[in-house]
Amino acid sequence: MSGNKQVIGNIYNTEKMFLCIGDNLVTKHFKKSSNYLKRFHQERKSLLRLQQLAHVPHLMAVVDRETTLHLSRLPGCSASSLTVQNLIDLEKIVKQMLAAGVARHSMPIRDVLVDDCGEISLVDFERSTLRSFNWSPVWLIATKVTKYHYLKLVEQYQPQMLTEKQRQQLQKALVIRQYFLVFRKLRDYVRRR
Ligand SMILES: Nc1ncnc2c1ncn2[C@@H]1O[C@H](COP(=O)(O)OP(=O)(O)O)[C@@H](O)[C@H]1O
Ligand SMILES: [Mg+2]
Repeated sequence: MSGNKQVIGNIYNTEKMFLCIGDNLVTKHFKKSSNYLKRFHQERKSLLRLQQLAHVPHLMAVVDRETTLHLSRLPGCSASSLTVQNLIDLEKIVKQMLAAGVARHSMPIRDVLVDDCGEISLVDFERSTLRSFNWSPVWLIATKVTKYHYLKLVEQYQPQMLTEKQRQQLQKALVIRQYFLVFRKLRDYVRRR
């Protein structure tokens, strides 16, 4: 994780993003950088699909000309470890999110917030796939990617929770990923010639 990806005081400021975290509201400004318009619209569309869910930000307002989203502030701050109960709660949120038609491309622990009572929330939906129809191949792959990232968190913080089947799923995903990396290296090599 790069060092600047932290909330300092109530500000989060990176090359791509500026967030101001108020008592009740958060403003998330997408700075002009690679794909920023696409990411801005993707987060907006994802949040609209998640409006009925608890433990994810509510979209309060959108200012298109400033590529800024106004969100509800969720309790707590970025987690640095996850308990068994946190992971059980996170699994519920992930299931509800997938049922609403949003699949995340990653799930870094800093996007999981935990408060003093151990309540958890999930933020940051700009890199996601939205379901077009249930059996869309792209959607099916995207749901697998989301579940994989959830299992990676379980593996890292509470590995004893993994069932044998989940352990095998992680192993299989690792093999596929290695093939994919070799394929990419070969492709880049061929392109350079
Ligand atoms: N609605 C929110 N409520 C409280 N904290 C938030 C909220 N949204 C973001 N944050 C905090 O700001 C950080 C950065 O926001 P995020 O949307 O993840 O930006 P980025 O796209 O750069 O990762 C998060 O890791 C989290 O700590
Ligand atoms: Mg984030």
